Amino acid sequence: MTGDRIVIFDTTLRDGEQSPGCSMNTREKLEVARALVELGVDVIEAGFPIASPGDFDAVSEIAARFGDRTTICALARSREDDIAKAKGALAAAEKRRIHVFLATSAIHREFKLKMDKAQIIERAVSSVKLAKEFCDDIEFSPEDAVRTELDFLCEVVEKTIAAGATTVNIPDTVGYATPSHYFRVISHLKQHVPNIGQAIISAHCHDDLGLAVANSLSAIEAGARQVECTINGLGERAGNAALEEIVMALRTRGDYYKCHTNINTQRLYPTSHLVSSITGMKVQRNKAIVGQNAFAHEAGIHQHGVLQERSTYEIMRPEDVGYVGQNLVLGKHSGRHAFRDRVIQLGFTLDDAALQRAFDDFIALADKKKEIYDADITALIENRLNDVSERWTLRRFHTSAGTGMIPTATLELQCESQEPVCDAATGDGPIDAVFRAMERIMGLSARLEEFDVKSISEGKDALGEVRVTIDVSGRHYSGKGVSTDIIEAAAQAYLKALNRADSDRRTNGDSTMVNGVRP
Ligand code: KIV
Ligand code: ZN
Repeated sequence: MTGDRIVIFDTTLRDGEQSPGCSMNTREKLEVARALVELGVDVIEAGFPIASPGDFDAVSEIAARFGDRTTICALARSREDDIAKAKGALAAAEKRRIHVFLATSAIHREFKLKMDKAQIIERAVSSVKLAKEFCDDIEFSPEDAVRTELDFLCEVVEKTIAAGATTVNIPDTVGYATPSHYFRVISHLKQHVPNIGQAIISAHCHDDLGLAVANSLSAIEAGARQVECTINGLGERAGNAALEEIVMALRTRGDYYKCHTNINTQRLYPTSHLVSSITGMKVQRNKAIVGQNAFAHEAGIHQHGVLQERSTYEIMRPEDVGYVGQNLVLGKHSGRHAFRDRVIQLGFTLDDAALQRAFDDFIALADKKKEIYDADITALIENRLNDVSERWTLRRFHTSAGTGMIPTATLELQCESQEPVCDAATGDGPIDAVFRAMERIMGLSARLEEFDVKSISEGKDALGEVRVTIDVSGRHYSGKGVSTDIIEAAAQAYLKALNRADSDRRTNGDSTMVNGVRP
């Protein structure tokens, strides 16, 4: 391993979850947390416990389940009640961290906090001390650090380290920095904060100018030894720095950065897929490292070069990031053992019941489709991942549509073990009719914001994948469904999104935000 180790602080479950449409329920968060542990991240920022009862429960469960293997972190504003909630949620974790933040820039001091510099220092220091009573591992973030006067930033950092912060994070909250600017901020802190050696400097970059990864790497060059990032670059607005890009840049350019991480890079692609599937947030085809085209060579001259010698046009091997191509793998006569082996190679860890369900789905698909690809198997498994938490399930449906007819859907849904409920609706097409009937049965009214259909593999008999994003009372929810029948895939996707809205309504009522804002 070359050089210093960079601490990978994953905030997919906190900052990432703040992306519109990306909210996850506790079971989904546990699934992502499990994948992050297997990926080898050093710290999982599991949530913001004061934000809602749902956030508190998710952090508590992640702390209890994974807090012996990976550091679990909870976010808190510099307020007693926030810190108390963070402590409560982290109680079961052996390895735990409280992340306290307070804005420091003039703009935030004047307009948001209405506090002067002395009050900011006083509040930051007392909050770090309060958190420190509970655990040694304390991170402090001067929010909007990049737009904070450098001398004041140095003072805040020095005093919070003296109060017990072991990591000082320097957030570019609004994605304003450029690589050389951010380098100078970090270098300035290293040169002017006398006790800086007692804490790890962390980078936290947003992607508003498309510079989050470049800025994070620049911070590492300047001496930061922790980066805060998310899978697929999820996060507020344009997102956070993408974990997979930072990790692969450090690995591929180890000659230059002379640093390494603990990440098991072969888990990058499966983890990206899982997060995309759970949040419903698609990964763009040409996304670096985990996009479908990231390793596709189209130009003949490139293909020729790669066939002669990979390194002519390939700086990373697809297998190093766990990339799953379109390999033809199995057919109707493949047995259970062959199926199980392939599932393991694809990076899934399924218990017996989940493996059986996946195998049953595979057999059902093999009846409809001659050739089954890795991507089909991945889609079937991911489609089942969030089944368990769904209160409402689709029992059956029927649609009729055609030229000159009124599109109609009849639908039967079941809520847990209650009697199934049947209803019918018309719409401007069979899918619209299905969506309307579902909303009537579940008593929810949603606005469809996005509807996306794609084929998972090749051929007319391919599995179709539908992703939807809906808006229910101003909040966004996503869902994904797969089937060889596109109407059924759409019904599954819409039901998942409605189930998320239903679960949010039941857990949090309407008050999912703190004082009307999420951090
Ligand atoms: O972007 C930001 O400033 C944050 C803080 C809470 C660290 O996410
Ligand atoms: Zn952030």
